[in-house]
Amino acid sequence: MPRPAVLVTKRIFPEAVEYLRRLADVDFVDSDDGLTAAQLTGRARGKQGIVSQLTDKFDAAQIAKLDGVRVIANVAVGFDNVDLDAATRQGILVTNTPDVLTDTTADLAFALLLATARRIVEGHQFVCSGKWCRWSIDLLAGHDVHHKTLGIFGMGRIGQAVARRGRGFSMRILYHDASRVPAALEQELGLEFADQDRLLGESDFLSLHVPLTEATHHLIGAAELRKMKRTAILVNTSRGAVVDEAALAEALSRNLIAGAGLDVFEREPEVHPLLLNLDNVVLEPHIGSASIDTRRKMSMLAAENCAAALEGRRPPNLLNRSAWKD
Ligand code: DGY
Repeated sequence: MPRPAVLVTKRIFPEAVEYLRRLADVDFVDSDDGLTAAQLTGRARGKQGIVSQLTDKFDAAQIAKLDGVRVIANVAVGFDNVDLDAATRQGILVTNTPDVLTDTTADLAFALLLATARRIVEGHQFVCSGKWCRWSIDLLAGHDVHHKTLGIFGMGRIGQAVARRGRGFSMRILYHDASRVPAALEQELGLEFADQDRLLGESDFLSLHVPLTEATHHLIGAAELRKMKRTAILVNTSRGAVVDEAALAEALSRNLIAGAGLDVFEREPEVHPLLLNLDNVVLEPHIGSASIDTRRKMSMLAAENCAAALEGRRPPNLLNRSAWKD
């Protein structure tokens, strides 16, 4: 049997490349630039496996050109960059990296929530700019987090991990999802299911944890923002396009809601220009899962998924089960 060939489209943790090299010839693009569609087509030629990242677009047209590719192993839990149906039709297995990033992403969501509410970034800039010359009673006074209502849109793994953090802050937790989680979990986490309007209207903090699909595209737009409290803070660590960024920027600039902590944007790395000049936002460059340990684990998990597929084993994190032939 000839050794399989694998394309790694961007820089990942080196141990994952080493792992793959033990079983395959690896074409490692040791750069953060990302391949253009044409480069991706060219470099994928003759490969059976691809280790990709969320910035690599595998739409139907791109997938149609992946002759002989058996697996796309995405180094992310989100997989909106891959047309799963097109991959399935072509018999390409697609995998992601769930679980290993759950707590790390929930930590970042909570960090954004706290930082926005308590004006942490403004405070840091205030001190560093030398403007701090006296203490005053309402200096950088923000919003309490403890005992407030935390709304969670999407009660999957990361939503649950955020709920656990909310409980640590004695928060009341409302959630909405396409379907309710088991009653035992609701009880354990102290969750109250709410319809979408109630979630929007009652949350002091609204944290988004839904995957990006056609159904969740612009889930939060002008109409939804108008239903939120003027004192509410929106946190998004899911995908940028879940929120209508222009509508959010407008709502924030008119103080229709109090603030936003955003890790993801509609056209990354572009950010709506209005957001860049607002005091009531905390903006991060899509670092939800970016702890050293977690990014290493994600790299390894993607490599393991890829290896399993190439060795004829069912990959542990297979997304399109119907593409798997026993
Ligand atoms: C994911 O895994 O989907 C994150 O957005 C990137 O870490």
